Amino acid sequence: MGAYLGFSSVKECESFLRNRHMWFARAVAKRFPPAEHRRVVDVGGYTGHTAQALKKVGYRVVVTIDPEGERSPGVALRKRRFLVQDAQGFDLVVGFRPCGASQKIIRAGKYRPVALLPCCCSKIWPPIVVRGKTIWPYPISGITKFFHTCGVKFSRVGPVFMTRKRGDA
Ligand SMILES: C[S@@+](CC[C@H](N)C(=O)[O-])C[C@H]1O[C@@H](n2cnc3c(N)ncnc32)[C@H](O)[C@@H]1O
Repeated sequence: MGAYLGFSSVKECESFLRNRHMWFARAVAKRFPPAEHRRVVDVGGYTGHTAQALKKVGYRVVVTIDPEGERSPGVALRKRRFLVQDAQGFDLVVGFRPCGASQKIIRAGKYRPVALLPCCCSKIWPPIVVRGKTIWPYPISGITKFFHTCGVKFSRVGPVFMTRKRGDA
């Protein structure tokens, strides 16, 4: 059986879908510990669910950049589009379904650690099997290709793309 949303089991995938913002924040914190990455920018944060989850797992300074963003307790809001150069003001750049900002987040990976869950990965769509071949109904290959084009090394944890830390295999 093929993996679901990049997870190795349906059970793991279901756990992600039940509590996706916390799941994402925990996965990010495991890879980029809050003690070493104090200032985080949540790109395309909108209602602030991801920002709140990031605060819960221990990130001290969380800023949302989103032209449609809403105020959320303890989170600074910059109501505008994210620019690649914004990354330099932070220790970590994250995007959870950030719509049009995915490419900029990937480009920011040249300068700062990045964790990205592209919009297309969070849809609750099962893979389609055509003539025995499993086809993923989201353009994961486009995201992968863009990381390569930008020369940004990454690995995946379920549906989340995270830049590799120096020294990672
Ligand atoms: C699907 S919502 C994601 C909301 C939130 N991250 C979540 O999953 O709960 C996408 C958000 O990305 C924002 N967005 C789109 N392009 C952007 C850009 N270039 N810079 C910052 N935010 C952007 C939109 O305004 C929208 O609020």
